[in-house]
Amino acid sequence: MIARIDAERLQGELDTLASFSDHPPPAVTRVVFGDMDLRARAYLKSLFADASLIVHEDPVGNTFARWTGANPSLAPIATGSHCDAIPNAGRFDGTVGVLGGLEAIRALQRAGFTPERSIDLILFTSEEPTRFGIGCLGSRLLASAVDHLVGETLTSGGQSLNQIRSSAGFPGSLADVPLRGGAYAAFVELHIEQGPILERERIDIGVVTAIAAPASFRLFVEGEGGHAGAVLMPDRHDAFLAAAEIALAIEAIARSSGSNDTVATTGVCELFPGAINSVPSRARLDVDVRDIDEARRDRVLLDIERASDTIAARRGVTVRREPINADPPAHCAPTIVDAIEGACNARGLRHRRMISRAYHDSLFMSRIAPTGMIFIPCRDGISHRPDEYAAPEAIARGAVVLADTLADLAAEGGRGEGLV
Ligand code: GLV
Ligand code: MN
Ligand code: MN
Repeated sequence: MIARIDAERLQGELDTLASFSDHPPPAVTRVVFGDMDLRARAYLKSLFADASLIVHEDPVGNTFARWTGANPSLAPIATGSHCDAIPNAGRFDGTVGVLGGLEAIRALQRAGFTPERSIDLILFTSEEPTRFGIGCLGSRLLASAVDHLVGETLTSGGQSLNQIRSSAGFPGSLADVPLRGGAYAAFVELHIEQGPILERERIDIGVVTAIAAPASFRLFVEGEGGHAGAVLMPDRHDAFLAAAEIALAIEAIARSSGSNDTVATTGVCELFPGAINSVPSRARLDVDVRDIDEARRDRVLLDIERASDTIAARRGVTVRREPINADPPAHCAPTIVDAIEGACNARGLRHRRMISRAYHDSLFMSRIAPTGMIFIPCRDGISHRPDEYAAPEAIARGAVVLADTLADLAAEGGRGEGLV
């Protein structure tokens, strides 16, 4: 059985998917449960149906498209990724794993392969934190890594997640989303690297061994507002300036952690009242901190806490921190890593092991199934920008490695035989 990828068709589908965007090309903005997300989902579901996959959706909108195996009593394996995109993003983040996963399945179908285990293609809801503040919402719920009560506590524009998802056509209780242990024998996600290593080293495939530990929190600063002309400088308690100093302290703390693996980003700053002639009385920062070393990341979080308290006291403002998430790193399963490397070797592709500094739905799928990730190079390592780019040949190579890996894991007598 030799799977062959239809690279042209896959590119055409990536182009169509990119057209569902709130911003004009080359930018892609697709916020979960927004009109463009719903149109993208409808398009993807039509493709899944064309491939004779059986589609079902859970109450948070995670979408499962199944190719039923010869032995449905065995635990299925799965692949997939997300199709939501942060504001002003590119067209390959997540989508390569969804459409590449679909093309991998179709390539296996065309090659006449019959999987022993069923193969699910999963479209995860809200991998990006744009709308509800927390990343990997769908996979987090699947893995029981967050309580189903978030349906009421997470909000966007004054509406709860529960209200928004039911208006988007996903009713039911979030308590029904978690998967039971052993629901999947394996999970493999195809994704662009979002970093420069593969391109720089001219390597076709990255075989992910671990995913860095992400954390995020909100920081609220309360100062004193007033007239921009009338309040004298020595009398000010400007919430924005305190927030700005805290953001600079966050940068300095991350830089001095002792490792380049520590990264910290203040990606959101909201000011109140937001008028040119008014001293800001309130500021909100959204901060993202990551490291492959969880203990070091937690030390950085603690240092940020201390620094923000000190700055607040000096500037006569108050700060309140609200944690969003602090997840441990994920480790990929040796069986899946071996299967991916085996597929690369059989195809004569250059590959190397690497860690993922970005998070992915695999971070949570690894809690409930042996998990691995296939990375492909992207130009200059750029991601979360409109000029994100992965070459058609690179995508096709990723999809073929995924196809061969899925075949190995789903076949009778394959590497997946020892799995649950
Ligand atoms: C995923 O989009 C991430 O921020 O790592
Ligand atoms: Mn992303
Ligand atoms: Mn992604």
